[in-house]
Amino acid sequence: MSSQTTSQAGREPIEHASRDELQALQLERLKWTLKHAYENVPHYRKAFDAAGVHPSDLKALRDIARFPLTSKQDLRDNYPFGMFAVPREQVLRIHASSGTTGKPTVVGYTAKDIDIWADLVARSMWAAGSRPGDIVHVAYGYGLFTGGLGAHYGAERLGCSVVPMSGGQTEKQVQLIRDFEPKVIMVTPSYFCNILEEMERQGMDPKQSSLRIGIFGAEPWTGRMREDIEARAGMDAVDIYGLSEVMGPGVAMECVESKDGPVVWEDHFYPEIIDPVTGEPVEDGEEGELVFTSLTREAMPVVRYRTRDLTRLLPPTSRSMRRIGKITGRSDDMLIVRGVNLFPTQVEELILAIPELAAQYQLVLTREGNLDALEIVTELRPDYDHLSEAAREAVQAKLRQAVKSHIGVSTTVTVRRSGQVERTLTGKAKRVFDQRPR
Ligand code: DLL
Repeated sequence: MSSQTTSQAGREPIEHASRDELQALQLERLKWTLKHAYENVPHYRKAFDAAGVHPSDLKALRDIARFPLTSKQDLRDNYPFGMFAVPREQVLRIHASSGTTGKPTVVGYTAKDIDIWADLVARSMWAAGSRPGDIVHVAYGYGLFTGGLGAHYGAERLGCSVVPMSGGQTEKQVQLIRDFEPKVIMVTPSYFCNILEEMERQGMDPKQSSLRIGIFGAEPWTGRMREDIEARAGMDAVDIYGLSEVMGPGVAMECVESKDGPVVWEDHFYPEIIDPVTGEPVEDGEEGELVFTSLTREAMPVVRYRTRDLTRLLPPTSRSMRRIGKITGRSDDMLIVRGVNLFPTQVEELILAIPELAAQYQLVLTREGNLDALEIVTELRPDYDHLSEAAREAVQAKLRQAVKSHIGVSTTVTVRRSGQVERTLTGKAKRVFDQRPR
């Protein structure tokens, strides 16, 4: 399936440390973080005091479960700089995530935080198969979003030639890929699909392009999407995970030789999975909400930050650190349609299992009387555009039945001609259009 896979050791010895060595380091760093947060951030002091815990209560890693969870709301309540643990003058960079409602969430970095971030993205790119000297095309957005600058500093740290293209201007993206011949592209998987289409529109076979490694993240994408991209573009497609509150891209990265889910860089982030309803920790392997405590962050340490991302912790394979499974979705992305819980990624899997259908879709929710109605709007791959009306209806029926039998919800399916589903022009794809009255 993939073309370039190289087996490899990590960029840094710590990636292959024994679990004992790693856990000793985590414990030491966790103690430092709790103390740093408690002594310098009023929010944490209040929250720890209210929960009746003190940093000195942490004797073993599992004691972290006694400490209070932190939510996005806590960050918003301390807008803009209330979560900083160092004097503002030591904050060298500020990023913010827009979020869908309310004030943005602000994050800050000291010089050391930026340095570690660059190292971790360089480590992540190495795990993806990139090497010093590669030309790297960065199409994550530059600006308050952490994607562009995070990728950029990491690529420079690895010793690559970086093309800071940012998002948008799809035609120009293709022109620069043609002319500069990058080996690596860093971009959201949905926007990469737009780039592939633009290549095809310009009469270029994506397989003939110089791209061999795609470092895709910032939004959920499925194993089927990986297969689709790898087959169309003749490249390795690997998953990079991160969030601004915890750092940005490079909190976890999938290794190209195993492609079995992102490895959490556990020397800098302590992961837990909790039951999203009760907040209680669950065992490794069980599905729940991912929670992180930063281990080295100076400007804005986070203690038990609730990501809202749903996944599992998996045992180490290519590195000695644990992995996360593919993110099924965010708990706040979950749609409840007539009482049935559904994630957009579940629909993506079913769409891409049908050969006639492209990786483009929108889920439109409306209300008919007292009942929710879900319409799935998707489109044909260009090779199937010639299908007769009857054949197209048969494809619609196939998807409708698949959704009914796998997810358990009745939907309307509309299959359009290729290119007829509106594209998100930069960054993270917008898949859900909830038009139900509030
Ligand atoms: O999306 C950071 C990033 C940039 C990651 C570039 C990877 C590449 P935020 O804008 O704060 O930060 O959004 C974070 O995006 O909580 C997940 O819900 C989602 N997300 C990020 N990476 C993945 C991934 C950046 N690989 C939120 N798979 C996270 C699924 C992802 N979801």
